[in-house]
Amino acid sequence: MELGSTMRHVLVTGGAGYVGSHACRMLAKCGYKPITIDNLSTGHRWAVRWGPLIVGDIADHRLLVDVIAKYRPVAVMHFAALSLVGESGTQPARYYDNNVAGTITLLQAMQQGGVNRFIFSSTCATYGQVEHCPIAETAPQVPINTYGRSKLMVETILRDFVSAHGLNATALRYFNAAGAAAEDGIGEAHQPETHLIPLVIGAALGQRGPIGIFGDDYATPDGTCLRDYVHVNDLATAHVLALERSAAQDGFSAINLGTGRPYSVLEVLAAVGLRAGCPVPRKIAPRRAGDPAALYADPHLAREMLGWTARESDLNKIVDSAWAWHAAPMEGRDRMEVRLAV
Ligand code: UFG
Repeated sequence: MELGSTMRHVLVTGGAGYVGSHACRMLAKCGYKPITIDNLSTGHRWAVRWGPLIVGDIADHRLLVDVIAKYRPVAVMHFAALSLVGESGTQPARYYDNNVAGTITLLQAMQQGGVNRFIFSSTCATYGQVEHCPIAETAPQVPINTYGRSKLMVETILRDFVSAHGLNATALRYFNAAGAAAEDGIGEAHQPETHLIPLVIGAALGQRGPIGIFGDDYATPDGTCLRDYVHVNDLATAHVLALERSAAQDGFSAINLGTGRPYSVLEVLAAVGLRAGCPVPRKIAPRRAGDPAALYADPHLAREMLGWTARESDLNKIVDSAWAWHAAPMEGRDRMEVRLAV
């Protein structure tokens, strides 16, 4: 049987990572077969549950060409990237090599294999220090860190591939991805973890010391930073909607994925405290360099273009799902590693 002829395969780079694995789950629910390529530098073997895992790197042109020829995917979803803001500043060559050069290699392999539809994992970090919130897609993109610049460079490259080669590309600019599909054994498992919600849950569970609140003197209602937390399942749904839209629409699109409803750091602590049944241990810490006071999306374009709105991104729902994942992480992951090993 020719693999591509009967099944709708989607090549998912970084499908073993946080957002990528949730996208694979959603693709499978919607009748697609995700084919993951991941070098497992930050992703996890146990997170690949809905299709094959090819352990390899997006810098490996030959591998990509072979995988595309074998599976004949209808599209590529590209999540594979280094994504630590702090680290990006100290290792720029690694970030540009992986995030930018790696993407060019992937686009060339797609061209060679005749795959034209591309869904790209972009970020609100491409906007930088914004003057106004909510942020629309037309806001100036002036990233303030290497990670954000690497993602903006890819957006620029995509525009050029669209005009030169007729690529069909959608860049989805995520705000703060959070939550988990714990019932299906996947969730956030960064090493090291730098994101607020898993750290707060870790503090509430006594797995780490008090959470440091990075500044309580911002010009916001309670003095702590405002962010737009969006459930990773909602992000995954948006990817499938973008994939389906790309069957009928050409060109380049960039779309924010956020709720438009920001929460402060203290509101996140309150939501986790509610779930835990007691206040989360905390201490006030100095501001973190590069943190804007407020970052939240104007989500209207996603509704207009994709028919998407965030449905699972109520803060309490996000916290409940993340809690379910973090409260019993080792048990779940060990069980899955054992299942994979037999
Ligand atoms: N925060 C704390 N204490 C912590 C960790 C975070 O107070 O221990 C605060 C931060 O200062 C910020 C908020 O919690 O105000 C959220 O911080 P995260 O690190 O969870 O997320 P960021 O908003 O910094 O990062 C997100 C994405 C990045 C992206 C960035 C763009 O996770 O991938 O937005 O600004 F690059």
